[in-house]
Amino acid sequence: MIIDVNFQTPSIVAIHMVKMIPDYVGSFYEPTPGLHNISEEGCKLGFTVHDEYDFFLRDQSKMYECIVMNPPFSKKSAYTRNAPSDLDPKIPIGVYFLTECMKMSDNIIALMPWSTVTNSDKRLSMLKQFGLKSITALPRKTFPGSRVQVCILELKRGWDKETIFKSFTF
Ligand SMILES: C[S@@+](CC[C@H](N)C(=O)[O-])C[C@H]1O[C@@H](n2cnc3c(N)ncnc32)[C@H](O)[C@@H]1O
Repeated sequence: MIIDVNFQTPSIVAIHMVKMIPDYVGSFYEPTPGLHNISEEGCKLGFTVHDEYDFFLRDQSKMYECIVMNPPFSKKSAYTRNAPSDLDPKIPIGVYFLTECMKMSDNIIALMPWSTVTNSDKRLSMLKQFGLKSITALPRKTFPGSRVQVCILELKRGWDKETIFKSFTF
């Protein structure tokens, strides 16, 4: 697979995401590791990390304690050779990765574009139904040179309280 070296997760954000993992969790899955920034920060903090070479070739029967992810946001930075032929072109690829991951864990920490929650009422309701615990606003400099504004979605299956708004600056 060709790794898109653009828009890797900044280490400081990766550390912040790994620190959001619930206390009782000892391992996590990283579906789109790229240059492994999230995975490496996880290992440094003592987590066992399951990395994926090609998400489309994953073992779909596996479940994980937690998933920490920053998927590609556009088709051009995604490796789709092994994607299912019925992949819906209307669904943004990052959202596709996220919704597939929601079948694989009760705890997800996902760096996503804000559009994930603002562009579709149906999608927001689907996230709330799963359990949208918090949204953390990230600064524009998170991905220098990109116009996409991003946030961290903290999903916890069964969370039925209000979504908490946070911000993280560096
Ligand atoms: C926004 S970057 C984030 C990288 C990584 N999470 C990190 O810790 O820096 C998204 C990454 O997804 C990778 N990617 C694209 N398609 C993939 C696929 N089908 N399976 C696994 N990774 C993929 C790209 O190579 C890219 O490096």
